[in-house]
Amino acid sequence: MLIAFLDLYLDYKLVLKRLKFITTTKLIMLDLKGITYQPQTSDKEILKNLNFKVHESEIILICGDSGSGKTTLLEIISGLIKPQKGKISWKNKNLSCRQRRWFCGVVFQFPERYFIGTTVGKELKIGHKFLREKSIEIVLQKVGLDGINLTMPPEQLSGGQQRRLAVAVQLLRNPSIILLDEPTAGLDWSMKNDIKNLILNLKDKNTIIIVTHEPALFEGIPCKMFLLERGNIKKCSKENHE
Ligand SMILES: Nc1ncnc2c1ncn2[C@@H]1O[C@H](COP(=O)(O)OP(=O)(O)OP(=O)(O)O)[C@@H](O)[C@H]1O
Ligand SMILES: [Mg+2]
Repeated sequence: MLIAFLDLYLDYKLVLKRLKFITTTKLIMLDLKGITYQPQTSDKEILKNLNFKVHESEIILICGDSGSGKTTLLEIISGLIKPQKGKISWKNKNLSCRQRRWFCGVVFQFPERYFIGTTVGKELKIGHKFLREKSIEIVLQKVGLDGINLTMPPEQLSGGQQRRLAVAVQLLRNPSIILLDEPTAGLDWSMKNDIKNLILNLKDKNTIIIVTHEPALFEGIPCKMFLLERGNIKKCSKENHE
């Protein structure tokens, strides 16, 4: 009788342990394995056998000195350049460069320089044959630009609003992952805070990778921090929490 009871108790403990594992283990979404990249015009490898994993709904901050390869890494993840070696998968499925271009929404440094729409509304509609007004409304709300005048030229927006517009353009493509290259570069202090709030608003719903020189600015956003150095990436011991 005692043995049967003990067995039952041990089974119960095992079930609880498994449940805890299932509920606390996050799925690996993006998985970079053995990425090596050397541009044809360079005599050295920029990324050397780099391994990197991103779990679901995570915010990743990647820091590194100028020239360490941060932008190059984003270009590789988003399928704009092809590494000589390595594999990139999403939910365990290998993705080609072409597939990754669809998967990723990239906002490069100073995205406002590349606006081509003459109005905010036209900028949002570029590349879409048909876009429901409701979709635009939802995305503008997500980036905190609800109620904005769509007939206004994008250059009349403030610096922070222009960055928000660039993020909105990408969100309308419904990407699985958002990549932001130095999203706070060139903005004044209040606008930098604006970008932090935007990221706080997107967290939970999106997997986001941010490349930045200013990790301290993202204090308060729960994220994992990595350092890109000498062609490789390593996790920083410090983690941001809310
Ligand atoms: N096509 C290329 N040909 C030669 N060298 C290149 C090429 N692309 C990038 N590089 C070099 O690779 C290194 C990494 O560049 P990258 O722009 O990725 O750095 P970064 O970390 O984004 O720098 P920053 O912080 O200044 O934006 C630099 O030394 C750069 O000069
Ligand atoms: Mg860069």
